Amino acid sequence: MTAAKTIDPKRIDRVLARHPQGKPTALVNLLHDLQAEFRYLPELAMEKAASYLNVPNGQLFRVATFYESFHLKPRGKHIATVCTGTACHVRGAPKLTDHISREFEIPVGGTTKNMELTLETVNCVGACALGPLLILDGEYHGNMSPAKLDRTLKTIKRG
Ligand code: FES
Repeated sequence: MTAAKTIDPKRIDRVLARHPQGKPTALVNLLHDLQAEFRYLPELAMEKAASYLNVPNGQLFRVATFYESFHLKPRGKHIATVCTGTACHVRGAPKLTDHISREFEIPVGGTTKNMELTLETVNCVGACALGPLLILDGEYHGNMSPAKLDRTLKTIKRG
């Protein structure tokens, strides 16, 4: 069964109801709220949102793919983002992504089968002095090493 089939339409409807119906100007805010609810934008939510706002599905999809902050694939409960900007790269960011990939058996951009962790990268968030930098669920962890990673990620279930 795919994740999209497990989405409860009532959860979508509750998010839609917080926005004015038939107003395409609410599109970006609505997508943000849907993503906050599901951690990504499920296909069913996209279809319902298009119909609710009275915009073509294609337009909604174009907006969702234009902004990097929107995700069309299911993401994990926790998001580990490794900065791969130049300063972090030279201080060892590749070791961090390799370590997480190996420990959790996921590639960059991948999510563990148990939906606990998604591994992502970002290109410089302006905190270069902290490099190499891991951002875990929005919280910055600087001067990372594989050993520190193990401590930081120890509560996240493997699988
Ligand atoms: S290169 Fe990582 S924060 Fe700037």
